[in-house]
Amino acid sequence: MSAQNTISAFFEQDHDRLDALFQSFQTLKRHDVAKAQEAFKEFKLGLQRHIVWEEDLLFPLWEEKTGMSDGGPTFVMRNEHRQIGEQLEAIHRKVADQSPDSDHEEQVLLNILASHNLKEERVLYPSIDQVTTPEECKEVFQKMKEIPEDRYRVCCGVHAK
Ligand SMILES: [Fe+2]
Ligand SMILES: [Fe+2]
Repeated sequence: MSAQNTISAFFEQDHDRLDALFQSFQTLKRHDVAKAQEAFKEFKLGLQRHIVWEEDLLFPLWEEKTGMSDGGPTFVMRNEHRQIGEQLEAIHRKVADQSPDSDHEEQVLLNILASHNLKEERVLYPSIDQVTTPEECKEVFQKMKEIPEDRYRVCCGVHAK
């Protein structure tokens, strides 16, 4: 399997893409509310999708291969996903009110994401690449495409367009 087709490469790239969207939101929010909202929505839906990919496909595969679940790294990652989700909603409430006063919530989210993504990139993804065969890896990418959009396209508690 070539390096760019690995779980590590793909998921790291998605982290970078999401980081860039969040940065756009932060840069735009006091200048162009509509564009900032657009960037935040894309970030939020993208991150929700990323988390579904991890929790529905990557983590179960790793848990099955290693026999580790409760108390292991994926248990920690799932808990952090819940914290990420809470901050996403907190920022979202301000964005929906067109209030730019979400600096604190943004910083909390960035702090959690920085350490969370680093742990995934340094430890979990490489370990997943190590325990999966190229066929299993391909299967994960295929299943990612098949996940129905309404698993993650939720915004304001309703399905986003
Ligand atoms: Fe994650
Ligand atoms: Fe991730």
